[in-house]
Amino acid sequence: MEQYTFSDNLEDNYKLMVQTVKAFLDGEPNVIANLSNTSAIINEYVKDINWVGFYLMEDDELVLGPFQGKPACIRIQIGRGVCGTAVMRKETIIVEDVHKFPGHIACDAASNSEIVIPILKDGVVFGVLDIDSPELNRFTALEKKYLEAVVGIIENSFL
Ligand code: SME
Repeated sequence: MEQYTFSDNLEDNYKLMVQTVKAFLDGEPNVIANLSNTSAIINEYVKDINWVGFYLMEDDELVLGPFQGKPACIRIQIGRGVCGTAVMRKETIIVEDVHKFPGHIACDAASNSEIVIPILKDGVVFGVLDIDSPELNRFTALEKKYLEAVVGIIENSFL
């Protein structure tokens, strides 16, 4: 298996995260295996987070998938919470303070900020990557750039 390597430079470290995800997913089509490893890799590389994982579309709602962190709510309706809103808008949502997001679904009381990135398959939302942080305003354009690159690798693994 691949070894993790880390850099003291934040952006270089995120580049290593993307490379590591690419190496683990290369040639492997199994979605559960790929999402499980991806959640573990993000958890190694992104500091100050308390939850990272996936919700997957099933019968027009999001259902909990592979994750790292505390047990979380299992089903989320489209349009509800940050995750369901990201599905509806088909775009990344960064929430600086979850307590100010109308309808935010609190799974872990420690969460203060959140990023949700939709995963598309053939132009249709397949699921979302959801990451929570105990810090306010944890997710910036830098995290968005590299986490969207990770989601791009997942999307390519479907092809
Ligand atoms: N906070 C999310 C729910 C999922 S948990 O954060 C793991 C939301 O509002 O959709």
